Amino acid sequence: MADNRPIGVFDSGIGGLTVLREIIKTLPGESTVYFGDDGRAPYGSKSHDTIIRYSLQDMLFLQEKDVKMIVIACNTASTHAYEMLSKHSKVPVIEVVTPGAECAVRATMTGRIGIIATNATVSSGAYETAVKDKAGELLSRGENKKAMKSLSVIQQACPLFVSLAEEGWWDDEIAYLTARRYLKDVKDFGVDTLVLACTHYPLLAKTIAKVMGDKVTLINSGVAVASKVAQIISENGMASDGMNVTREFYTSDDAERFENVAAPFLGSGLPRGTVKHTVDRYDISEFL
Ligand code: DGL
Repeated sequence: MADNRPIGVFDSGIGGLTVLREIIKTLPGESTVYFGDDGRAPYGSKSHDTIIRYSLQDMLFLQEKDVKMIVIACNTASTHAYEMLSKHSKVPVIEVVTPGAECAVRATMTGRIGIIATNATVSSGAYETAVKDKAGELLSRGENKKAMKSLSVIQQACPLFVSLAEEGWWDDEIAYLTARRYLKDVKDFGVDTLVLACTHYPLLAKTIAKVMGDKVTLINSGVAVASKVAQIISENGMASDGMNVTREFYTSDDAERFENVAAPFLGSGLPRGTVKHTVDRYDISEFL
């Protein structure tokens, strides 16, 4: 029997739309509910406990919308709250770190990988660990051997990219100068693969590519996450019948602002009909 419940996606703000876009492209017949916690963003500068608290409330809201799975589109929330959410969620939970790490180790030819993310993601070290784990898996299977043997990772936090993305300043002089400054060490390190390990960074992809040069492959984990969602749906027999597909959008901040900033990115007249919804009141004490 078809499962017409929507896929729930949440992020700290509009950045997760980079993941939603790929999910819609891969699974156009699946309905979606998106929640952007713009009112409490950024998550990337918050403490571990706060990120867990916010993410649990985001989860409860999506469960209230009767979703069939929850995609944590936010890298920071994936890094800090995935375990907690998968323990307490009533539906399967998907994070974005592992798919991004896997793409990176498959893409690199030299083994020199850069990871750019929020402060909270960088200081957790989760991405570096995921890249090393995936490299170990590839090596044990004899895949991409030369690169995996000389694996070397550099991380860089680029917190201002989030504000630039939320502001809609994706491809201008300010974005370029900021990117040049943040990416200097990563470029000098000689990476051939750079993971955009933050939902918001794909919005600045053109600018980042301009700074890094065309020999560097940029990894946007959204595509890999969408394949993972498709795989879980098919393995669990959760596909919809593709009829009456709906796209719902919620933000914890101003709905009009959310739509204005997000529209040029999402295209096709989306997002539309966005509703403001705050989640602070959701009681998570039973989980802590
Ligand atoms: N969504 C966050 C992430 O992917 C970036 C924005 C924030 O710091 O809240 O890490």
